[in-house]
Amino acid sequence: MFAFLKKPFFVLAPMDDVTDAVFRQVINQCAPPNLYFSEFVNVDGLSSRGRPRLLPKLDCLSTDPPLIAHIWGLNPDNFYLVAKQIASGDLANELGLSENFAGIDLNMGCPAKAVVKTGACSALIKNPDFALEIIQATKSGAGNVFPVSVKTRLGYDQINPEWIKFLLDQHLAMLSVHLRTTKELSLVPAHYKELKWIKTMRDELSPETLLVANGDILNRSAGLKLITEYGIDGAMIGRGIFQDPYAFSIDSQWTIASRQEKIDLFKYHLELFKQWADSPDKGIKRMNKYAKIYVNGFNGAKELRENIAKANTINEMLSALMLEQ
Ligand SMILES: Cc1cc2nc3c(=O)[nH]c(=O)nc-3n(C[C@H](O)[C@H](O)[C@H](O)COP(=O)(O)O)c2cc1C
Repeated sequence: MFAFLKKPFFVLAPMDDVTDAVFRQVINQCAPPNLYFSEFVNVDGLSSRGRPRLLPKLDCLSTDPPLIAHIWGLNPDNFYLVAKQIASGDLANELGLSENFAGIDLNMGCPAKAVVKTGACSALIKNPDFALEIIQATKSGAGNVFPVSVKTRLGYDQINPEWIKFLLDQHLAMLSVHLRTTKELSLVPAHYKELKWIKTMRDELSPETLLVANGDILNRSAGLKLITEYGIDGAMIGRGIFQDPYAFSIDSQWTIASRQEKIDLFKYHLELFKQWADSPDKGIKRMNKYAKIYVNGFNGAKELRENIAKANTINEMLSALMLEQ
């Protein structure tokens, strides 16, 4: 289904409030993966009056590499409607994107309490009948040809091969498995060994489903090692990008990047955000969180981060960085 993807491939994990259109553009500039996910977007919100507020979560500044719309929600009718808008290209047109989304991914892995208690995301692991309704509604809205994939965990409170079997029985375009259970959050090392049976199960039940591993994969070479060892198709990197924005490159130079190179990349991020956001200064807290990525690993980084944290506007933040030149 994802005919454009050459194996092995690398994916930037969806991270809410992090991997927005601007941050993905920064990563694109450094060392792009082969596939991006949007932040997770609620289909029920998209089908309500709150739609305009949510649309930026699906925005994209570049069409290269492709972007998958990562969605969640509770109402199968809304999954159907939003899938239809995505597959038809209507939603991409509404956003003014020059290319359509490459697929739709269903969030069945988020462990956040506020979400899980509603019965959404990783709570679906405990409710496969409802998960089935959602998958079927989405596939049907997507016209049964547009790629539909799932990102999930190994199980809810324990590793659950029945859940993975259930998902493979749905003949998804791709299955990304965060190799921990919901209960484990990110508190234990990812269970890589489980990839062995998952791969065997995938080969038996749904060889057309691309299998992607996720969890503690810090960079491209670590991903490639797993891909080779377990014969899977792709590797997804999440928090590794905080340690190295060049995590997808073959030979990242980030650990030896100069203070100026790091600051310049942060400035590029801030300038892009200023151009993109409707009210950039409202994003100041968010920009502060990114500071740790760039303003790190050189003498005086902590002091500079403290100065940046005092900024009330993006321009003040940029000024604090300019003083460093
Ligand atoms: C800040 C943050 C936000 C996240 N948001 C999402 C999300 O919206 N959807 C999702 O499926 N996973 C989300 N995740 C989980 C990641 O996609 C990924 O599965 C997890 O971080 C494990 O991969 P890693 O060890 O490479 O970081 C989020 C993780 C972080 C740290």
